[in-house]
Amino acid sequence: MTRPSIIIVGSGIAGMTAALDAVDAFDVTLLTKSDLAQSNTRYAQGGVAVVIDAMADPGAPRLGDSVASHVADTLVAGAGLSDDEAVRILCSEGPGAMDELIARGVPFDRHDGELSHGLEAAHAHARILHAGGDATGAAIAYALIERLRESAVTVRERTTAVDLVVQDGRCVGVTLLGGEELRADAVILATGGAGQLFPYTTNPEVATADGLAMALRAGAVAADLEFYQFHPTSLDAPGNFLVSEAVRGEGAVLIDAAGRRFMPDVHPDAELAPRDVVARGIAQQMARQPGVPVRLDATALGAEFLARRFPNIDAACRAQGHDWSREPIPVAPAAHYYMGGVRTDAWGRTSVSGLYAVGEVACNGLHGANRLASNSLLEGAVYGSRVVEALVDPQPVVPFDDEWLAPLALELADDPEAQDVSRSDLQQLMWDAAGLARTGDDLRQAAAELRRWRSPIVTDAKAAEDANLLVVARAVVASALAREESRGGHYRTDFPQTDPAQARHSSIGVRHA
Ligand code: FAD
Ligand code: SIN
Repeated sequence: MTRPSIIIVGSGIAGMTAALDAVDAFDVTLLTKSDLAQSNTRYAQGGVAVVIDAMADPGAPRLGDSVASHVADTLVAGAGLSDDEAVRILCSEGPGAMDELIARGVPFDRHDGELSHGLEAAHAHARILHAGGDATGAAIAYALIERLRESAVTVRERTTAVDLVVQDGRCVGVTLLGGEELRADAVILATGGAGQLFPYTTNPEVATADGLAMALRAGAVAADLEFYQFHPTSLDAPGNFLVSEAVRGEGAVLIDAAGRRFMPDVHPDAELAPRDVVARGIAQQMARQPGVPVRLDATALGAEFLARRFPNIDAACRAQGHDWSREPIPVAPAAHYYMGGVRTDAWGRTSVSGLYAVGEVACNGLHGANRLASNSLLEGAVYGSRVVEALVDPQPVVPFDDEWLAPLALELADDPEAQDVSRSDLQQLMWDAAGLARTGDDLRQAAAELRRWRSPIVTDAKAAEDANLLVVARAVVASALAREESRGGHYRTDFPQTDPAQARHSSIGVRHA
């Protein structure tokens, strides 16, 4: 008897978890556009937030933490937009998902046999598991890759999906660069984030919003696209290497040109305030001292500790000529994580039948307007498993709330007079108009500018990515223009307050006649 088939697009934590969970029941093909290890997952540093007390691992210490506390912190970060049920699922199923990662070979750091646990901003407890110090993502990626290589999953590296095949309203496969069409009973998008929308990003080059653009073109509804998280501290040097929040969690402080701490004047939690607050605090300080970078002072932590706890950041600093144990390092905000994405329910189902989405490409409402640090690796592990559970044992369909179903209309057609889009121009436009601080005037001008650009003909991978970035840039700008308030990762200087009447998700989609 032939088994049902699944195509999974993407080899981060979400895609690989889904593939490994699915392989016993389905014929699984996993596509990834670079090599298996190229993903946001691979570069994750700080770790995974989880209620360690609830793990079955015999080395899980008792810390007085609880699922209720993790839920509460996640809801606060989400700034009134997180869906309670999606958050409850994340926090309560997280401990089991971490036990499973350990069983799959992820070597989380331990001290005297007990799992080590760090503190990050806006967490009430030190609940961040990490591996290799600041190499958590790499440890997860390489363990899962090893399990994948041993499994019956068909892996196709350097294979770019360019579009979804939809027949009679159902997704039945994907088209690959070069024209090949692959068919399956279900397609799971696990294509990760969209950092390459911006010139300054912590994300690797593969993060070009492909899955989101493909889903929009296929008629799926996307949600909360105005909410983008900018990480406060990337190294202010080409490549924007992430300087993990965990460094501030360990006690490093931000200082201005005069060597004075400025974050205590911005927020009572100072350097450990929510990410959007710290990122804007830094941007404002940068504007006050043009040409002189804001610096992160980690010198009090000592050379031995910094090298042991943060070996990758230590190496990245040294590669740029900085000895951060002796001198503060220049840091700047950079695009980091996309809260918005393809709208899904708590089982990864999108508004198009046969099409599923998990991980950073998806928006199940969990992160609301802002993601709590270290919740996204957890999301990939928890929801990467749930999507398979729903495929094995179809769950009752709960209709999407009304608020998801009146999408803003996204125009896909290009103006015949338009010029081919230039990626660097698009990135700069997005940074200036849809970055850390936005105004209606800038967004309207950006929308007009984006209409003057057209998608390139898809002859190679870069052209496919540029076409995707253009679609998603238009959707981000339209969504940001429509939300006339400030909330989480969406800050409007012309509407600086949070408006309780706008405490609802946004949605956007291509309207078909
Ligand atoms: P990804 O890991 O991004 O994987 C997406 C995959 O899809 C990639 O393999 C990509 O090549 C593939 N792909 C994309 N488009 C196509 C296409 N068209 N065809 C085929 N394949 C395609 N989160 C935390 O929780 N804790 C942290 O400490 C943390 N640190 C971070 C540090 C950095 C520097 C970055 C960038 C992110 C960090 N994050 C962290 C966020 C977290 O890493 C990501 O949100 C998460 O890993 C996303 O996982 P994913 O599986 O959804 O996508
Ligand atoms: C970090 O290490 O600061 C990133 C953590 C995250 O994005 O969750």
